[in-house]
Amino acid sequence: MKGIVLAGGNGTRLLPLTKITSKQLLPVYNKPMVFYPMETLLRAGINDILFIVAPDHAGDFLKLLGSGREYGAKFTYEIQDKPEGLAQAFVIGADFIGDDNITMILGDNIFEDDFSETIKNFRSGGHVFAKEVTDPERFGVVKFDENMRAVQIEEKPKTHLSNYAITGLYIYDNRVVEAARQVKPSGRGELEITELHNWYLKKGELAVDIVKGEWFDAGTFETLLRASSLMAEKAKKQQ
Ligand code: TTP
Repeated sequence: MKGIVLAGGNGTRLLPLTKITSKQLLPVYNKPMVFYPMETLLRAGINDILFIVAPDHAGDFLKLLGSGREYGAKFTYEIQDKPEGLAQAFVIGADFIGDDNITMILGDNIFEDDFSETIKNFRSGGHVFAKEVTDPERFGVVKFDENMRAVQIEEKPKTHLSNYAITGLYIYDNRVVEAARQVKPSGRGELEITELHNWYLKKGELAVDIVKGEWFDAGTFETLLRASSLMAEKAKKQQ
């Protein structure tokens, strides 16, 4: 299993903070945001990691994270010229992925959960994670049947589908590279990751688990602040 941290994007919702730097380099309590997703992968036993970054900030990521040796890991970097969608990561990362399975995490996603068991037990198909939220329309949303089996997934649905957002950690087998190459840009011009979930869902090969601990997409002023406060509280408790 290899890992990707997707840390490009425009970060327009955090302007002017993101005018001169990447969202994922902004502080969340006492470290840059990108450390949290990186540590989620390392904690899960993944130490061959590709960082996909925007061209303007590539040098800063390299300076911050380096070779990965410090973490007992190997870090590789690729540029995403324009933020053309989450699914594009598997096309950009195709050479890096090679014949392996891949776990991708979004660079602004902060998880408390430990995914090591799930990743250790992963064999094939797709495995994604949902969390009940109050603002599902901001995310890919999953509808479950009465046995909590996923039946429908839609990107930012206009009418209410459910309160379960798909979080930014995705485990896929190697077929995702070919599936991502087939994805066409959506109405908003992006290669949507929801299409990849649906590719596996239609084959009956998508597992959707519920995230147990806290989860943040730290991409708005409010969630960025909440993430910092939570991390500060956790650090105090551990003292
Ligand atoms: P978003 O929060 O959807 O996009 P953004 O970071 O550009 O922010 P905004 O909507 O405020 O302009 O992206 C989620 C994560 O995925 C974030 O860590 C950036 C990353 N991303 C990429 O690296 N490339 C992409 O093409 C997209 C769409 C997102």
